[in-house]
Formats: sequence, structure tokens, C-alpha cells
Amino acid sequence: MGKKSLCLLISFALLAYFVYIPLPDNIEEPWKLMITNAFLRANIHLSALLEMLGFRPLVVLSILKVPPTSNEKATVTDTLFNNVPVRVFVPKQKPSTTRRAVFYIHGGGWAIGDATWKLYDELARQMMDKLDAVIVSTNYRLSPEYHFPTQFEDVYDALRWFLRKKVLAEYGVDPSRICVAGDSAGGNLAAAVTQKLLDDPEVKTKVKIQSLIYPALQTLDMDLPSHRENAHMVFLTKHDMVRYWSTYFTLDKALKEAMLVNQHTPVESSHLFKFVNWSTLLPERFKKGHVYANPTHGHSDLAKKYPGFLDVRASPLLADDSKLQHLPLTHILTCQHDVLRDDGIMYASRLRAAGVQVVHEHVENGFHGILTMTSELMKFKVGLRALNKYLKWLEENL
Ligand SMILES: *[C@@H]1O[C@H](CO)[C@@H](O)[C@H](O)[C@H]1NC(C)=O
Repeated sequence: MGKKSLCLLISFALLAYFVYIPLPDNIEEPWKLMITNAFLRANIHLSALLEMLGFRPLVVLSILKVPPTSNEKATVTDTLFNNVPVRVFVPKQKPSTTRRAVFYIHGGGWAIGDATWKLYDELARQMMDKLDAVIVSTNYRLSPEYHFPTQFEDVYDALRWFLRKKVLAEYGVDPSRICVAGDSAGGNLAAAVTQKLLDDPEVKTKVKIQSLIYPALQTLDMDLPSHRENAHMVFLTKHDMVRYWSTYFTLDKALKEAMLVNQHTPVESSHLFKFVNWSTLLPERFKKGHVYANPTHGHSDLAKKYPGFLDVRASPLLADDSKLQHLPLTHILTCQHDVLRDDGIMYASRLRAAGVQVVHEHVENGFHGILTMTSELMKFKVGLRALNKYLKWLEENL
């Protein structure tokens, strides 16, 4: 073998090593998935490297941003709601009556993501088009520069601004047909602000429905069956998720370390464990092969220093039934191969038990992030199917 072919062989082996990741059997388009995953991870590593060298963080991902481009279908503007940057999409066609609206919250572990990213811009346009609705896609300040409750408060401030009569009228929105929706960390924020609206006497307009796409909903138990089964899954590993959660509250590594071993909750908060008890809240088929153990307790210092992780505005699953029962019709999408799967399923169980109408859609061969894997940049069949179902649900229920 010549030197050249040896070099080629070695580079190919290295590439395959970087790209290859074992995937569950029922995953479609596995190589495309592995390559996309490797590409995204390479981006994240490169961003981290650039950051270390003193460049602005995430410069690499920011090339994903697109300007607010209007066209024959849509008027698109970037503006501020209560000082929070939002992108608003309004159909061009003159409406015969007032329109429905979706207030959308992007994902990205409270740390990355932007309403102006191409994939979120495209998602908003699809919603606008399909529903003939006004779409508000909100931003919020991100970790690690900003911690909880900044993200929550930014989103809530923008939502409150939007829900004022005057603003709704300005955009031609029917106040009785508004949806709050979001994916991943955006699903977390969507669930949290929808709960908050229930007991805010100052906001007269309430939302009709909420849609939570593979949401993160609790910090108490980091050893759910979905954490165990998908610890090393593409796009979101258990370690990623624990890092996102802990960084939402602090950069103190102690919280991350404690969460990784599931010993972060103080004994004084034991009464909260019943809200995330997967032994009672998961249907049989998701518990199969797993043994429930009551979570062990940690030092109370962490919860004293960073009370955010026990706060319902960060962990909507910790709300009690008296609050949950007033929530509107709820759509929850979960994916089988996702560390966050059981957060969504447990919320569905708790809402149903509290008497809330829930539509739970479970994608058997789905993985984290599918709803945004539908743009020109990266497109997966499983994502397109989930997107169509999501749009259909909105079409029928909003
Ligand atoms: C969780 O539920 C199981 C089964 O009902 C029960 O044995 C266990 O004590 C519960 N644990 C907590 C912390 O609520």
C-alpha cells in the first residue's frame, strides 16, 4: 500500500470514528443523522475553542441568522415587546376577520438558539402559512451570561405585552384564539409562562391552548428511564442536558456534579418527589426493565444557594394539582429516543389526573430536535411527519 492510500485510510478511519455513533434499530436515515450530529458537535467544539481564544461566543452558530425578509406572503418585522426582541410574521393577505396567533419560544437549553435562526424563521413561516395566523417568535437573554429567572421573565414580559388588547388589535389578533408553544427549553418556558398566566390578575387575555414539543419540565430526578436509555443519544446526551439545566441556574460546577449523580435535592424538599415519581406517572411500557428507587438526598447548601431548580417557573412539573387543573387544552409531543421523553409523559399524566384535556403525541422513532430538522439546512422524514402533525393539531384546535 502506498503512503497516499495509507493516509487516506487513516483519515477515513478517523472520520468514521468521529461520525459513527450507535443508534437504535428503528431510526430512519441513520447516516444522515450521524453526519448532522457530528457537524453540529464540531460546531459546538469550534465555538468553545473560539470562545477560549477570546472571540464572542457562538460566532459559528450565528451564521445561521437570517434577516426579517418580507415577501408576497408575509410581512416580517423585528421589534421589541417590553424591551424583549421578537420577530413577528403577519400574513400579507387582507383577512376577512381577526386572526389566530401563536406565541412561539425557541429551544437551545436556555443557552443557545435565536428566533432569527433560519430554522426558526422557517418554522414560523410554515405556521403562519398553514394557519393564516400571526406568529410572534420571541427571544430571551441566554445563559451563561444570564441565569434563571431572566429567561423566564423575558419571555413572560414579551407575552404580557403581546396579550394587551391594544397590541392584539394592532396585529388583528382574536384574543380568544391564542396559542403558546415552544420546543425543548422553549417548551419548558411555554409551560412555565402558561402556568404563570393563570394567577396573574393583571393579564386579562388568557391563552386558548399550549403546545409543548419535547419539553424539559423538571430538575428533581435526573435518573428517569428516558435518561438511562438515551444517555448517549444524538443531539442531546444526558450530560448535555444536566449541563444545560445546571447552567440555567449557575456556573458553579458543584450543582452539575450533584445533578449528575442525582443528589442535588435537599431532604427538606422530599415532598416534591411525588410530583416526579415515574413509578406512578409513567405508563407500563415506558417503565419496562427499569427499577424505581427513591432519589437520594443531597446537601441543602445547593438549594439554598440556587433555589431556582426547585422553583415551578423552572420546573413546571412541581406545580400542584390545584394549579394544574386550570390549564388550557394541552398538546405534548414526546420522542422515544430522547432524554426528555419522560418529562413530557409525566406532565401529560399529571395534567390528565388534574382534569386537563391533553393530547399526547408520542413519536416511536423520533429523537430530540426533530421539529426543527425540517428546514433546507437539515431535513429528516421523521421531522417532516412530526411537523405536519403539529400543524394539523394547531389547525384543528386553535
Ligand atoms: C413512588 O411511587 C412508588 C410506587 O407507588 C412508591 O413506592 C414510592 O414510595 C414513591 N416515592 C416517592 C418519593 O414518592
